[in-house]
Amino acid sequence: MSSRRVIGSEHIEEAFRKGRLTLEILPGDIVTALAKESAQNRGIKLVDGPIEKPAVRKTDGGTALYRGLTRRSPKWVAPKSSTPRNVRRLSKLALIGAGGVGGNIAHLAANADMADEIVLIDIVPGMAESTALDLMHASGITRSKTRLYGGTDLALVADADVVVVTAGKARSPGMTRADLISINRRVIRSAAEAIKIHAPNAIVIVVTNPLDEMTTEMLAATEFPRERVLGMAGTLDSSRFRNALAEAAGVYPNDVEAITLGSHGDEMVPITSLAKIKGRSVSAFLSDEVIQDCAQKAIHGGGAVVALKKTGSATLAPAHSSIELIDHIRGARTGSVPVSVELQGEYGINGLVLGVSCHLGKSGLVAIDQLKLTAEETSALHAAADAIRQRLAG
Ligand code: NAI
Ligand code: 2OP
Repeated sequence: MSSRRVIGSEHIEEAFRKGRLTLEILPGDIVTALAKESAQNRGIKLVDGPIEKPAVRKTDGGTALYRGLTRRSPKWVAPKSSTPRNVRRLSKLALIGAGGVGGNIAHLAANADMADEIVLIDIVPGMAESTALDLMHASGITRSKTRLYGGTDLALVADADVVVVTAGKARSPGMTRADLISINRRVIRSAAEAIKIHAPNAIVIVVTNPLDEMTTEMLAATEFPRERVLGMAGTLDSSRFRNALAEAAGVYPNDVEAITLGSHGDEMVPITSLAKIKGRSVSAFLSDEVIQDCAQKAIHGGGAVVALKKTGSATLAPAHSSIELIDHIRGARTGSVPVSVELQGEYGINGLVLGVSCHLGKSGLVAIDQLKLTAEETSALHAAADAIRQRLAG
């Protein structure tokens, strides 16, 4: 049995110095009047003890080993999902295509209150207007100050600072990639013509598939500098890759850093050599076989959604991935991000749009990171470039 203690004001002062909010008083302890007064003055609660201590969790050897292995690297700090610093509000965000992806981009952007105006444009009468009206009806709850409107006229892009193009067709059964290229090329050209005339200073984010080819088309048709024509796919593919690695390792996606480069499709290049979990190489956590399986899940992620959905492709993750690029442009996120841009000698590739790691800012592309890849990854990147070149020629 412990001896009786006299709790004086010095005990309260010590607890205060240690940042405690409570002090345990055991049966038989004597608390002086001064201590009671100090406790009140210092905001420390005197709690009748003994306070039940949490039971020590017992672990087996396997769990202890796993915990040791998955302990974060001492230098690693979990990346923040966003680092708001000098965040810019857009005056106008234009969305050409108000289908599955376009509609969801509008939803996320309006909810984030990132623009004064969002205009949706779609060839189908009523499509863009209805989504705009629907989202305006939510503003009484979201309190978003963004004004949304829509229409069928491409001239509505006028003076937008960012234009996201999702207009076009998705591949349906029996359709080849080449069929899709010829159909969507016409859509991209008409969008480009309107952007060039009505929003000559805009940054254009292309989402329409096939992504690298359509970004090439947009670049050629607008004659904008490469800095202002960006293709969205790498953010989506990288997110799918990180999700697969996190699931395989039993950690949170926020613990994983991994990107994909190359094309948006079969020639995608998931960069396994630089992939990390809690700051350590993924190979410390997962076997080569499992890592390759995760890479395949990134490559075929879009197909997996189509197979389940049957009447269309993914819309939610693509919308988030498009917002990620807009957030980099407006300064709500910092660091590098994979984007399809025209290469001008980077990685020894010239005059071709390909997914690479980029820094974005208020005028679009700021810099391309030339990552230290393995020989295998570099040759896969070149193979992706060759395949895109062939499809464009075909
Ligand atoms: P969706 O069919 O739901 O929407 C496309 C919209 O474009 C339709 O509402 C259609 O009426 C409109 N449209 C067609 N031609 C137009 C024109 N000339 N002018 C204005 N609007 C026009 O398709 P969803 O799911 O929104 O996908 C859109 C595109 O994005 C597809 O090509 C799809 O393959 C691609 N995609 C690309 C991703 C990527 O990572 N790059 C991810 C997801 C989709
Ligand atoms: C996707 O990857 C269809 O490209 C689209 O989900």
